[in-house]
Amino acid sequence: MNDNLIAVQDGETLDPQDWDEMRRLAHRITDDALDYIRSARERPVWRPVPAEVAARLTAPAPGQPSEPAAVYEEFKRDIMAYPMNTTHPRFWAWYMGSGTVLGALADLLASTLNPNLGGANHVAPLVEKQVVGWIRDMVGFPAGSSGLLTSGASMANFTALTVARNANGGYDVRRQGVRAAPGPLVAYASSEIHSCNQKAVETLGLGTEGLCRIPARDDYTLDLATLERQVRADRAAGRLPFCVIATAGTINTGAIDDLHAVADFCAREGLWFHVDGAIGAVAVLADNLRASLAGMERADSIALDLHKWMHIPFEAGCVIVRDAAAHRDSFALVPEYLQREDEGGGMASGSLWFSDYGLQLTRQFRALKVWMSIKEHGLERFGRMIARNVEQAHYLGRLIEAADELELMAPIGLDIVCLRFNPGDLDLAALSRLNQAILVELQESGVAAPSYTTLKGAYCLRVAISNHRSRFEDFDLLVAEVLRIGRELL
Ligand SMILES: Cc1ncc(COP(=O)(O)O)c(C=O)c1O
Repeated sequence: MNDNLIAVQDGETLDPQDWDEMRRLAHRITDDALDYIRSARERPVWRPVPAEVAARLTAPAPGQPSEPAAVYEEFKRDIMAYPMNTTHPRFWAWYMGSGTVLGALADLLASTLNPNLGGANHVAPLVEKQVVGWIRDMVGFPAGSSGLLTSGASMANFTALTVARNANGGYDVRRQGVRAAPGPLVAYASSEIHSCNQKAVETLGLGTEGLCRIPARDDYTLDLATLERQVRADRAAGRLPFCVIATAGTINTGAIDDLHAVADFCAREGLWFHVDGAIGAVAVLADNLRASLAGMERADSIALDLHKWMHIPFEAGCVIVRDAAAHRDSFALVPEYLQREDEGGGMASGSLWFSDYGLQLTRQFRALKVWMSIKEHGLERFGRMIARNVEQAHYLGRLIEAADELELMAPIGLDIVCLRFNPGDLDLAALSRLNQAILVELQESGVAAPSYTTLKGAYCLRVAISNHRSRFEDFDLLVAEVLRIGRELL
């Protein structure tokens, strides 16, 4: 025998050694998963990972197998016990979603079928196409638009901005690259834009200076008069404006730019109109919020998240592009090993290859959890959940205004409330330290998990209520605890 060959055992696979035992374990895992979500309210929102757990999570990979049940017990001890806990009714940090039970089960099914959504002739791309069509209709884009599901809005914005740069750069950017640009290409947005757009512009080779941030107005929206002056000045200086990124729901305060005004401006100036709707685009599902998003349907492209306010388990974002040909022209690349057999039948037939519309070739079946969750709940229920979060934000706003020691720090945009504890006799630095300490105590006591931001130099607690499990009483508790902790710390 050749010494270089390892001994192979015919029949060894990665399937269970004992299917009955695996079935029992699978049932236990499902039961534990459902109990975990059902009892979310009874657990602390957050607890830090103990040092010994963190240490165990630095161990090298095992060379030898373990029993699946033993691996699961380790998961329960070291991982399940210290989650981020987005499923908790008082998780309001950054901007997340709370997950759905059927969405989680759909992930199991997606991994069970294990299809590759890059392309080929099978059913999963039809599911993604249907889901993308639902979202396209939801945001009011025409039937001929293209789109695909992405890991999140970062990737959705990156995909859209790639198309914007290539389609509106004024020359063949894809072939010649940005080094051939007759001047620096520039995209514009308000200073409240999410950082992922800056990363996208930098990755697209345009540099940090390729994104011009227009100082936001007092209500945290894009200042169109300044934008107009800046674009004119930049053109005069030889720069090449190609795109405006409007935000529908900013990360700091939930502000929505005047989308009709941006659409008018872009049409006049020949600029690509992109909307970052990661937070707010899905608010079109709520009857009382739809009007605030008017004009979004006029965009050239839109990026949004389904794992935020629609609570699809991470990861699930979506990009829609009005000009499907421009979208495909930016990403399609078909080497011989990916040729399609349009006439010949078989697995390589069919023209629906999502890899033609984004960076990834291998893609997961994230469409299934979206498809199953939307079918289970219907869009109207999602709309009601969104509307209730906005009502809760205003309820919290009223509680803040009624408490002498609390200050509302910005207009409430959608479901985001910024506040601080302010006893009235502290300077800015001391106030910031006090509110930082309040936040840490809120989180470490396990009561609630808001996060923070800085608005006009002032540190604030930031409560982003995209949570379908929050109840009005949760905000009574939050306010009572902020007041209690603030007074105690004084
Ligand atoms: C306005 C906005 N855009 C983009 C993103 C990035 O989205 P993701 O985290 O899904 O990549 C976020 C995330 O919070 C956001 O709030």
